[in-house]
Amino acid sequence: MDVESLKQEAGVAACSYIVDGMNVGLGTGSTVKYTILELGRRVAEEGLSIVGVPTSVATQKLANSVGIPLAELDTLSELDVVIDGTDEFDPQFNLIKGGGAALLREKIVAQASKMMVVVADSRKQVEHLGAFPLPIEITCFSWATTQRSIEKVLGCSTSRRMSGDEPLKTDNGNFIIDAQTGPTLHDPAETERQLLAIAGVVQVGLFNGMCDVVILAKDNGVEILTKED
Ligand code: A5P
Repeated sequence: MDVESLKQEAGVAACSYIVDGMNVGLGTGSTVKYTILELGRRVAEEGLSIVGVPTSVATQKLANSVGIPLAELDTLSELDVVIDGTDEFDPQFNLIKGGGAALLREKIVAQASKMMVVVADSRKQVEHLGAFPLPIEITCFSWATTQRSIEKVLGCSTSRRMSGDEPLKTDNGNFIIDAQTGPTLHDPAETERQLLAIAGVVQVGLFNGMCDVVILAKDNGVEILTKED
């Protein structure tokens, strides 16, 4: 099966977690896009009543275009669930996210959610995190100083993410540093702690212990993986 079909299978399957009355975090990326399209269809055709909280401007536009009612996170006490994609997940359900530069809002929304459901195709499943370059959101102020500090902590090379000829700016007006931590990153919790201690680091694309369920689309069907307690 081609990758796009796998993404669609995972994205649509995740909608089984959504029922009337839920406040739903809407992630960002090319897999969760299918979740948002399916939720929009259910709102229009089945009268599904939900409120969505988008994790990026792109997701806000997509959700608006398919008619999902949206709200600011600050106006809701709690979210029932967030559905989001990932760049990698390990057997402990630790994640690397931020390939789409939305990691800060994604993490804020995930922390505000009772449950995190991740949608992924089989390429995202790894034994150890780290082959995917670790995205780190940093301030534009003194960005090169922050980049050097990151390299010192991680002991690897990094690059500032570009968008064409210009440095990429996130929805929050920050830069993204991609760190070549591979082939493996053995202690995600300690890595996150060390990086967050650098003043110019706004957030790290490591989502440790946040994910509860992975909807994994493989050639032979969709598998639902649940975190062992
Ligand atoms: C956005 O910043 C990312 O965290 C995405 O959720 C992640 O990169 C997965 O995206 P795809 O589903 O497009 O691979």
